[in-house]
This record gives sequence, structure tokens and C-alpha cells, in this order.
Amino acid sequence: MKIKSAEFIMSNSNVMKAPTERMPEYAFIGRSNVGKSSLINMLMERKDLAKISGKPGKTQLINHFKINEEWFLVDLPGYGYASVSKKKRVIFQYFIENYFKEREQLVCTFVLIDSRHDPQKIDLDFMQFLGENQIPFCIIFTKADKLGSSKLNKQITSYKKKLLQHWETLPTSFLTSSNTSLGRTEFLNFIDGVNED
Ligand code: GTP
Ligand code: MG
Repeated sequence: MKIKSAEFIMSNSNVMKAPTERMPEYAFIGRSNVGKSSLINMLMERKDLAKISGKPGKTQLINHFKINEEWFLVDLPGYGYASVSKKKRVIFQYFIENYFKEREQLVCTFVLIDSRHDPQKIDLDFMQFLGENQIPFCIIFTKADKLGSSKLNKQITSYKKKLLQHWETLPTSFLTSSNTSLGRTEFLNFIDGVNED
């Protein structure tokens, strides 16, 4: 797929106010700072489409981007950021949950996992939530540039092995780096395939 246009449409805390056009939609979710917004910029080859920060908690709303006038990419706030006040966390949780439960045009969710990390409860719990709500998801391993190739392979293999203790089959997964553009073609080919179905 060639990216002909990538346009920020709107930010929302209420899924009911999200764009009403019936286009296939793909959402990025994961821990704060895992690299969701950076990945969107890398995939779209745009530097500042989604706002990024070294400090966790940058993205605080549901952000819709329209791609090629054909599909939506959604950047969501990260979960698991301890320094966000409890009240704010509850609000986040509420509107993120609502987004997943209400958004009928959501085709697939990408759960982002830092390539360096072992499975963490919060990510497993989130995958469980998606599973319980019949929301298809893939895993995107991020920041692959931060590990050498043999360590990286070992880490990903071990992650998948541990996932199989929780799931009967493994979801489709991608290995990416926003610094080197690793995984860009595979991701866009995947979206092409799903949109054609
Ligand atoms: P929140 O919006 O706070 O939930 O964070 P996010 O998941 O959107 O992360 P963001 O894209 O803002 O990136 C967080 C930090 O990680 C930034 O300092 C990025 O530069 C860095 N980062 C993101 N992706 C990569 C990557 O592939 N490689 C490296 N080395 N750094 C990355
Ligand atoms: Mg972000």
C-alpha cells in the first residue's frame, strides 16, 4: 500500500462523538511510552502526525487519522502509567473500554509491546479483555532497534512461548522499529489484505 494521504481528523474522549463515516478502523493500544504515536508517524512517513514524547502519558484522547480516504487509524492513550492520578486513570479506563465496546467499525486492534519486556500482567489482562469482547487483535513488538538481533530473537521467542500459556493460538505479530522503519511493509501489506477481504 502506498500512503497517499494521512490526515488528523479529531480528538475525543467520547466514542459517540468519533467520526461517523463507515470505514474500516484500526486502533493502537499499549502501555504508556511503548511507542504507539511514534509508530503511527513511521508507518505514515510523517514526522508530526501523532504527538510523541519521552514522558509517558502524552496521548490522552482518542485520536482519529484518516488514511488514503479509505480507513482510519486510531491512536489511543497508554495504559498502566502509575503517575497519572487515580481519578484520571478511572476516566481513561472508562472511555477506552467504551471505545472498544461501542466502535462497530473497528476491524483489528494492535496491542503494542516493548520488544525488551517479558509479558506483563497489564498487557495480558488487556488481551484478555479484547478476547472476552470478541475484538480481533494482533501484537506489535516495538523498539526492535534497542536490542541486538540475537537477543531480540530470543526475547520474542520467549514472549510468544509465555503467551501460549494463556492462549491456545498465537495472534499475528509484527516486529517494528520507528527508528529504522522495520516492519512498515509487513504492516501495510497486512492492512491491504484485511481491507480487501
Ligand atoms: P503515550 O502517548 O504516552 O501513551 O506514549 P506512546 O506509546 O504514544 O509513545 P511515543 O510514541 O510517544 O514514544 C515514547 C518514547 O519512545 C519517545 O521518546 C520515542 O522517541 C521513543 N520511541 C518510540 N518508538 C521507538 C523506537 O522504535 N525505537 C526507539 N529507540 N525509541 C522509540
Ligand atoms: Mg502517544
